[in-house]
Amino acid sequence: MKSGRKKSGSNTNAMSKNDSMGNVNKTENKFFIDGNYHKVTVSQILEMKKRNEKAAFVTAYDYSNALICDMAGVDGVLVGDSAAMVMLGYHDTTRIGMQEMLVFCGGVCRAVRRALIIADMPFGSYQGSVANAIHNAVLFIKAGCNAVKIEGGTEVVPLIRSIIAAGIPVMGHIGFTPQTSSLWNNNRLHGKTEKSALKLLEDARELEEAGAFSVVLEMVTDEVATLISENLSIPTIGIGSGLNCDGQVLVSHDLLGLYQGAQLRFVKQYAHLYETIFDAISLYRKDVKEKKFPQDTNSFHMDKNELRKVLRKLKQQRKLRSD
Ligand code: KIV
Repeated sequence: MKSGRKKSGSNTNAMSKNDSMGNVNKTENKFFIDGNYHKVTVSQILEMKKRNEKAAFVTAYDYSNALICDMAGVDGVLVGDSAAMVMLGYHDTTRIGMQEMLVFCGGVCRAVRRALIIADMPFGSYQGSVANAIHNAVLFIKAGCNAVKIEGGTEVVPLIRSIIAAGIPVMGHIGFTPQTSSLWNNNRLHGKTEKSALKLLEDARELEEAGAFSVVLEMVTDEVATLISENLSIPTIGIGSGLNCDGQVLVSHDLLGLYQGAQLRFVKQYAHLYETIFDAISLYRKDVKEKKFPQDTNSFHMDKNELRKVLRKLKQQRKLRSD
């Protein structure tokens, strides 16, 4: 860790052109100018649709990565339950619970100052009772999140109404809904038939009427995603649902090339971090084995006089033992 690194709470780190080591900050940041930034709100996400500006969302689950996402100027950070796979190594999202999600949210909320933070309500956290769902949604807000996301269509509409009535903004999520879709069938792509298209349109309209401020469309055909986006006044946030959604979201580990799970067609890899990290760790290991790390610049020294005193003491002790 470089000694010039500062905590995100410090308003100077993102903006300063020179860090404390005198190095020029290569990523000059237009989103944090002189310590000032505008927190993205739910209303601003709605406004973006009106002025035809695409919203860029990405998932994050920890402090360090969320800080980078925020500095890069994304509009929203989703603490997705995809954490179950990419952070915890489960095969699906059903395994993750409130406790783990709250830990991930804590890290993200301590990093993000500008982007809207949305917490994914995990499987089991909203099915039991409305009171319990509101309780859990409140826990996310108390952790610092600005909204929650709930998977499902018409069946979750009454619940969404209650959470919104409690003052908490809700993002919907239809199409492929990972928490339950895989329990019923393996049908990932939605909106291929008239029946599926009409159901998606109905779900989307009802979520809008219930007061959701946006809706994720996951693996919905381009045509149906376009129709939904044209027919709603709230923004659609697509993942695997084509270019005509009002915004996009991707799992950060997928877009960074970090997660080695299934390669999804709708993901574009903007980096190959698995290889980058693999090479770095391999090099580190080699340096340790070959005694090339640490070097003197990575080490600390004691005062020579102090060392002399220690050596003298050791000599005396050895002599006493041998007498
Ligand atoms: O959990 C998640 O990351 C998500 C997004 C993929 C939308 O729900």
